[in-house]
Amino acid sequence: MTSSHPDQLDPSTAVVALGRPERTTGAALNPPVVLTSTFVGAGEPAPGERVYARYSNPTWEPLEAAIGALESSPVPGLAYASGMAAVSAAFSLVPIGGVAVIPRTAYNGTASLARELAADGALSLREVDSADTAAVIGALEGADLIWLESPSNPLLDVADLPAIRPAAQAAGVTVVVDNTFSTPLRQRPLEVGADVVVHSATKFIAGHSDVLMGLVVVKNQALRDALARRRTLAGSVPGAFDAWLALRGLRTMALRLDRAEASAGELARRLSEEPALSRVRYPGLPSDPHHDRAAAQMSGFGAIISVELAGGQGAAQAFVDSLELFTAATSLGGVESLAERRQRHPGEPAQVPQELVRLSIGIEHVEDLWADLQRGLRGAAASQG
Ligand SMILES: Cc1ncc(COP(=O)(O)O)c(C=O)c1O
Repeated sequence: MTSSHPDQLDPSTAVVALGRPERTTGAALNPPVVLTSTFVGAGEPAPGERVYARYSNPTWEPLEAAIGALESSPVPGLAYASGMAAVSAAFSLVPIGGVAVIPRTAYNGTASLARELAADGALSLREVDSADTAAVIGALEGADLIWLESPSNPLLDVADLPAIRPAAQAAGVTVVVDNTFSTPLRQRPLEVGADVVVHSATKFIAGHSDVLMGLVVVKNQALRDALARRRTLAGSVPGAFDAWLALRGLRTMALRLDRAEASAGELARRLSEEPALSRVRYPGLPSDPHHDRAAAQMSGFGAIISVELAGGQGAAQAFVDSLELFTAATSLGGVESLAERRQRHPGEPAQVPQELVRLSIGIEHVEDLWADLQRGLRGAAASQG
C-alpha cells in the first residue's frame, strides 16, 4: 500500500493517494473487492494468515489505512457495518458499571444507545450541554468516557475540543469525538487530544447515499487490536463491497465537500435574511453563537444547515413538502440535497424544536438549490393561510 505520509500531502491529495496497491508493473491501480467468506488454509494459522472474512478482509484495509492517516493516527482505523456499529464499539470502552458523559443532544441513535445501556445497568450516564465547557469539565471527575459530537446533529452545537482535553486528561477520561459532520478534512480531533474518533462513513466519506458504514480511529496499536478482536466476536464487520464503495467515495470527498460547503455558506447567508425563519443554525454565519469557536478549531464549517420556521411545526412540514429538488429524507452528506423535519422521529431529543428542518446541502448548483428553498418558503407561507 502507498505509504506517503499525509503530513507531506494536502488532505485533498491524501484522499486520492492513500490506500493504493503497490505500484508494480501490471498491478491494478485500485484495490480489488475480495468477495469471499473464507480463506484457504490447513493446520494452525500462522500469525497474520487470513482465515475467515469476519476476522479480516483485504478490502477493508485500504480504507482503514486511509482514514487512520487522514485522522493523523499512526495506526489504521477500523471499519464497521454502520456508523452505529462504530458508536457501539466506542461505548464498549466504558467498563461495566462505569460512567459516560454524553451531550444531551447527541445524534438520537447515539443518545438512545447510551440511555438503553444505562437503563440495563451497564453504565451510568451524565448528560451535559456539550457547548457549555464549564458543565462538560464539571462532569468529568470519576467518569470513564466523554462523548462529544461537534458540530452536533442536528443543532450544530460546537464543543470546545482543545479546552476539554486537558481536563479530561487530568481526570483520566477517554475522549471520543464523533467527527461525522466535519470529516478529517475540516477537523482532526486526535490532534487536539481526543483518544477515539468515530464516523458514520455512510455520510460524507462514502458520499453517495448508497452505503452504510462506520469507522473508528484510535491512536495506539494495543487499543486497535482490542477493538478489532471485539469486532470479530461481535460480528459488526462491513461487507467487502461496501468498504470498496466507501473508499471510492473518499476519493472525491474533498471536491464534494468544497462544493457543498461553499453552497451551504451562501445559502445560510441568504436564509438568515428570510423573515419566515426564526433561526438559521450554521456555524459559518458570523451571527451564529458557535461561530468563533468553530472558526478557531475547524478549517471549514461543513454542509449542514438547520433552519427553524417562524410559523411552527405546520410551516416546517409545508416547507419540506413543497421542496422539489431537495428530497425529503433522513441522512446527510451525499451528493444530493436532503431536507428533514427532525422531530418526525420519536427518539429525537426534546431540545430539538418541532419547527426545525435539517438541510444537507449536496453538490447541485447553488442557484437551483436557492430557487428550491424559495419554493419551500412559499409553500410554508401558503400553509399559514
Ligand atoms: C453524527 C452521527 N453519528 C452516527 C450516526 C450513525 O450512523 P449510521 O446511520 O451509519 O449507523 C449518524 C447517522 O445519522 C450521525 O448523524
